Amino acid sequence: MRFAEELLLLLHSDKSGYFVPIPEWKMSCALAGAVLMDLAMEDRIDSDLTSLTLADSTPTGDELLDPTLADITAAQNVHAPQYWVERIATRRADDIGDVAIDRLVKAGIFESDTGGFMSLSSKVTRTGRYPLVDGRSGEEIKGRIMRTLLDDEIPDPREAAIIGLVNYCGGFPAMMEPEEYELAQDRIELFSGLDLIGRAIGPAVRSSYRPPESMRAARRRPLPEANLWDMISSRSFRAGNIPKFMAEQSERLGPVFRLKVPGRNMVVLAGEEANTWISKKGRLHLRTRDYLEGFQTEWGTARSIASMDGAEHFRMRKTVKAGNSRQVVVDRLDELFALGRRSFEGWGIGNTVPGEMSCQRFIGEQISQLSVSIKPSETVTGVLDDLLLFEYRALLVHVMQVLPRFTLRTPRMNRYRKRVLELYALIHAAHTPAQREGKRRDLVDDLMDLHHADPQFLPETDLGFAFIAPIIAGHYTGSAMAFTIYELVKNPDLLERIRAEADALFANGDPKGEDLDPAAIDVAHRFIMEVLRLHPVIPIQMRTAMNAFEIDGIEVPAYASVLCAFPATHYMEKHFPEPEKFDIDRYTEPRSEHRRTAAYTPFGVGTHVCGGARWTELQMLANLLLIARHLELELVPRDYQLKLSPLPKISPAKSFKFRVTGHRHPLEPAAGPSAA
Ligand code: HEM
Repeated sequence: MRFAEELLLLLHSDKSGYFVPIPEWKMSCALAGAVLMDLAMEDRIDSDLTSLTLADSTPTGDELLDPTLADITAAQNVHAPQYWVERIATRRADDIGDVAIDRLVKAGIFESDTGGFMSLSSKVTRTGRYPLVDGRSGEEIKGRIMRTLLDDEIPDPREAAIIGLVNYCGGFPAMMEPEEYELAQDRIELFSGLDLIGRAIGPAVRSSYRPPESMRAARRRPLPEANLWDMISSRSFRAGNIPKFMAEQSERLGPVFRLKVPGRNMVVLAGEEANTWISKKGRLHLRTRDYLEGFQTEWGTARSIASMDGAEHFRMRKTVKAGNSRQVVVDRLDELFALGRRSFEGWGIGNTVPGEMSCQRFIGEQISQLSVSIKPSETVTGVLDDLLLFEYRALLVHVMQVLPRFTLRTPRMNRYRKRVLELYALIHAAHTPAQREGKRRDLVDDLMDLHHADPQFLPETDLGFAFIAPIIAGHYTGSAMAFTIYELVKNPDLLERIRAEADALFANGDPKGEDLDPAAIDVAHRFIMEVLRLHPVIPIQMRTAMNAFEIDGIEVPAYASVLCAFPATHYMEKHFPEPEKFDIDRYTEPRSEHRRTAAYTPFGVGTHVCGGARWTELQMLANLLLIARHLELELVPRDYQLKLSPLPKISPAKSFKFRVTGHRHPLEPAAGPSAA
């Protein structure tokens, strides 16, 4: 293991799922120092306190070390270690960190969450040892170093060097309890000076110097602006296509710009560079709490997964992981098909069906049953509609701030709120131990366990909203499904190919989760991917800049309201040629446009990236197959052209309607081989 990997393991906090909070610049210098220390160990460089010289330019074959070795080889003059620490910290620290993390994940030492959180793998936690790598396994480093510092053990030279590195970047106070640190301080200082290499590089890390604010400010560019005129003169904006509008502005102004509209002052981050920054650095600079405060109060809750940051957010993500996973949909596919067929029955034949609202009910019934084990249509008729309307109004008032508060206090809204409280109670009542006996665990079971284990962390006041969060998230799936139906009718050739896949899958009875292998669902899967690209239902997410930051030479001040327009990339020609064309071949080799860095982002980027992404893909796919199997559809009118409703999220406008003109197969489970 290289020093950079050991450094990250030492500075990792299993509680927060990330690294202990030391200043970014110090962390960069420590990673630079770690690489220099390994180059010295590999006899490629010599170093004392005043000079660092090249000893051997032969590449080591290690991608973690060779780029830095190449820099030193190419240098004309000899420089001090501090020069190299600062230079590498500025130019290479991000890559060094990424490569080291990647290697730890590949070695099975770290497990990573899609939101960029990391935890030690359960095997390392359990055994205190790393998995076998190249025939070797070692004792987990944190335990080893702590014993050295607190139990009078003598470190070997490598351990002394890494102790020095952590010490010089200020890591120990952040990773130890204050009492421990006080006890260990003398030994830390003693060991930090023991190793020769550490003695040369370590102080360079400690005294490394970030260019002063005034020098950095001189390099900065002013924040470019998009104003009201840019908005109203944009055809995309007028059509409600917010991702396309953001893409146009980002292509014109760069990844960071101010959106200046009367009464609002917002900074937009859009484009792949901004997405990459959000996923790598966002956690240190952006927080979600502020913009959700009023919205959550309406539901009687103080906080939710969406408004948490840091360690508590990581804990909550771990709690809801199983309940929002794809496996739930796999295990309950038969229920999904049955509910889907029931929705189709309700659509009838020959009736004009309101597209968006019908899809909301269609998906809402499924999510309620699969996620929280209730059947709204059988128990609390109409509650899904009430919930949806209340949510939209609360978003428009508190998050988008386009409606005044009193609009949430009308008798109708009060009635909806009351119904939401009834729903909380209903879900709660359905989750007593007696009610749940013998049933597959669901999300609410996991939330209840957490509530019982730690009622301070997840109090009763926050439970209700946590219960219905997947139903609210399902409103995005509802709109995405409405877009799916529109595109299906508009692309008859693809419909035929999906029908062929569906007929093959349903030929011997309803398919099981394991039947949906990539080859069997190739066209349907790419169809869903393209729906999610062309119609990203969540065009922006709001954040507050809790620390100032800089992207592309532009500073965003603390307290700024930040709009992360992550799917703006979906409408950028450089990532998705002819972005407005519905083209499922983008996702096949060699084009593979979805693999471009930070370009395909229907589920967001950063620590809050969608926890139900894989659930959603499978749910949409299964429903697409079910529609293709059973329904003949047409739009009303037949030549209808899609119009968008951009608030509070992107959905097809109310004018979108369709009609079932016939059933290809009766609305009942496909007959299996035994029935045949
Ligand atoms: C088409 C459907 C969906 C889309 C486009 C979507 C998209 C997103 C996006 C963009 C976020 C990030 C929000 C942010 O950055 O603040 C998010 C968060 C989340 N989504 Fe989804 N979502 C969908 C459906 C679902 C479903 C059905 C579930 C549950 C089964 C779900 C569970 C979650 C959770 C738990 C989070 C919060 C993650 C966190 O804050 O750490 N989503 N979703």
